[in-house]
Amino acid sequence: MNTIERVERALAHVSAQRFDPQVYAETGFFILRQAIDKQVVARWQQVWQDFHAGKLSEGRNVNRANPVALTEELPEALARMYREPVFIDTVKQIFGENVALFNHRFVIKDAHSSGKVFLHQDSCYHLGNLNKCSLFVPLSIANEDNGGMTFHAGSHKLGYLGDAGEINPEAFEIRWPKVTPELHPGDFIVMNSSLWHESGPNKNGVHRIMADMIMQPADDPTSKELLSGEWKTDIFYSPLNCARYFANSRVLKIIKYETELGLRPAPAKTD
Ligand SMILES: [Fe+2]
Repeated sequence: MNTIERVERALAHVSAQRFDPQVYAETGFFILRQAIDKQVVARWQQVWQDFHAGKLSEGRNVNRANPVALTEELPEALARMYREPVFIDTVKQIFGENVALFNHRFVIKDAHSSGKVFLHQDSCYHLGNLNKCSLFVPLSIANEDNGGMTFHAGSHKLGYLGDAGEINPEAFEIRWPKVTPELHPGDFIVMNSSLWHESGPNKNGVHRIMADMIMQPADDPTSKELLSGEWKTDIFYSPLNCARYFANSRVLKIIKYETELGLRPAPAKTD
């Protein structure tokens, strides 16, 4: 059996109430159905609705480089939702006993971010070790009509592609099967951070509300919080503003050229 055949065979089992790490290893993602406690999900939805009515109804501070990523500070119940035991129990089946948090945020498709998100992998935007996964937790319905995600099953097997941006699937000889699952509150998805994924536009205007929590083994020095077991590193650094870790780099060159062309103001002097 070749790689595509193995991926296709695994896809028949990619959606279930119990996580299967062997299926996940083949497909690069897994859909857990109705796996989160109903009362817990209902509370998160209520907190989101209150937050939206109070803080976001007048609009939100949209990051033009990545409009789907919410920049406002989350209320406590949503800011800590990654601590729910079902998430940690699932990720332990991938990474073993010692698990940590890399990042937690919300990615939403509303009136400010109704466009598509191009085909990409997340690994190239991360720091530290490449061995990470995202847990996507919908607090609304998410499907093809409101900008739900499409996964290119098995594409994580190609690893990191060497740059960050929109992937051209035509550049490869291999064709990965595409899957766009419909998700309901109570479901969640586990995704290998190297898996190719994209999402279409929000066509029907129903807000797509989703948490994106990124977890990793606890030996990774970019970890924020220990979720299970014990730390396996005694060194830590922040993944924020990574341009500062370089004396020279692609990003620093772009900033330099844009500044020279008058496309951005010269950096403010801080001394
Ligand atoms: Fe992504």
